[in-house]
Amino acid sequence: MVRPRALPLAGLLLLGLCGARALPAAEAWTGSAEQARPLITLEQLLWVSGREIGEVDTYRVPLSRRHRRGSLLAFAEARKSSPSDSGAKFIALRRSTDGGARTWSPSSVIVDDGTQVDGLNLGAVACTGVNGSVFLSYALCIHQPQPAISSTMLIRSRDYGLSWSPPRNLSQEIGLDRFAPGPGLVIQKRYEPHSGRLIVCGHRTLNLDGIYCLLSDDHGETWRLGGALCGIPYGHPKLSHDFNPDECQPYELPDGSLVINARNQNFYHCPCRIVARSWDAGETLPPEAVTFDPTLVDPAVAAGAVVTGGLVFFSNPANDTHRLNLTLRWSWAKDTSLWQRPLQVWAGPSGYSSLDVMEPGDTSREPPTLYLIYEKGRNQSIESISLVKISLSGSL
Ligand SMILES: *[C@@H]1O[C@H](CO)[C@@H](O)[C@H](O)[C@H]1NC(C)=O
Ligand SMILES: *[C@@H]1O[C@H](CO)[C@@H](O)[C@H](O)[C@H]1NC(C)=O
Ligand SMILES: *[C@@H]1O[C@H](CO)[C@@H](O)[C@H](O)[C@H]1NC(C)=O
Ligand SMILES: *[C@@H]1O[C@H](CO)[C@@H](O)[C@H](O)[C@H]1NC(C)=O
Repeated sequence: MVRPRALPLAGLLLLGLCGARALPAAEAWTGSAEQARPLITLEQLLWVSGREIGEVDTYRVPLSRRHRRGSLLAFAEARKSSPSDSGAKFIALRRSTDGGARTWSPSSVIVDDGTQVDGLNLGAVACTGVNGSVFLSYALCIHQPQPAISSTMLIRSRDYGLSWSPPRNLSQEIGLDRFAPGPGLVIQKRYEPHSGRLIVCGHRTLNLDGIYCLLSDDHGETWRLGGALCGIPYGHPKLSHDFNPDECQPYELPDGSLVINARNQNFYHCPCRIVARSWDAGETLPPEAVTFDPTLVDPAVAAGAVVTGGLVFFSNPANDTHRLNLTLRWSWAKDTSLWQRPLQVWAGPSGYSSLDVMEPGDTSREPPTLYLIYEKGRNQSIESISLVKISLSGSL
């Protein structure tokens, strides 16, 4: 088994970027898009590829999740012997108990697929707020055609990510083959309809592609298949510019509807993001509600999206052809055509990203804190995994 050693804290950087103005001390946070002045206050490299740490060839597909009362968790696929999407891997976890600031636990192994030819892939993560509960889902064997058997798996922690349950196999329960959750956040509905519902969206692989959502109305005890938005032509190999919605991130708007922001794998209509909607908490994803967001130029990649208050935040490498130019955007959630001037996080090679938010509490006049984790490199996006902490008030 691969035993990673602790990463020295050499990646610590303090940055004050882009000339953002600080809010005057007395100005309370109201949560408007115009008031938001995202400022990177801290950046840390959490994993470095190239057999630098624990003999791991490549770290990819980062996720981070901030538990409301506990730690900040960062996950990544540790691809043991090659950068390939298939191949043997483990899920690496690092925890920070000081708000993701300066101190992190060493990298640990929470699931290891051994020496599988087509091993595990991350996955979507939820912190449900109930007694330190964290759910993490992942897929097994999604790159091999039938008769190979793929599985969707779930592990759970009840102590803020310190220890984890044995994997539970969801495949029979959800009745889906080749389902790859996320990668990103499991969301929990705040508003009606179905407030409290857990929702995992992801895609199916090979010719069965499209977006699918899994739903749980009992805090993750049981799961079932919700809505789907299939690729066209369904069940057949795709050509360039066919409709092929892929890796995706759902978020909830204040009116209780869902937006699912998806990778546009074959560049149908534009080199930009697919935006699907659901008004029934993920039971259906009507095709007539699908739109494309021309502002969100994208090279076909997994991107981050999160809502806090009335604002939506989005991260991706904002380029039509190359994985570079990692960019954060924000807008009013109720009208996401009003994207504000973007913040460039890293001009160089950058790939998958995921966003999470820490809200200071309902009565606080402090702005929330954003966490952005992404694939970052100088020559290639897969050289390292970096985590950025972002203040929304423009001050440290
Ligand atoms: C998961 O369950 C499915 C359906 O019962 C089964 O075919 C598959 O082998 C199981 N996977 C694992 C890893 O146990
Ligand atoms: C990087 O993103 C910014 C903001 O969207 C855009 O204006 C710029 O053209 C992009 N640059 C490259 C090289 O993709
Ligand atoms: C994407 O990046 C390439 C390489 O840097 C650049 O030539 C191109 O203009 C960028 N595209 C956009 C839309 O900015
Ligand atoms: C990036 O490429 C340059 C030039 O090819 C090479 O000298 C350097 O070692 C590379 N750096 C990394 C981190 O791969």
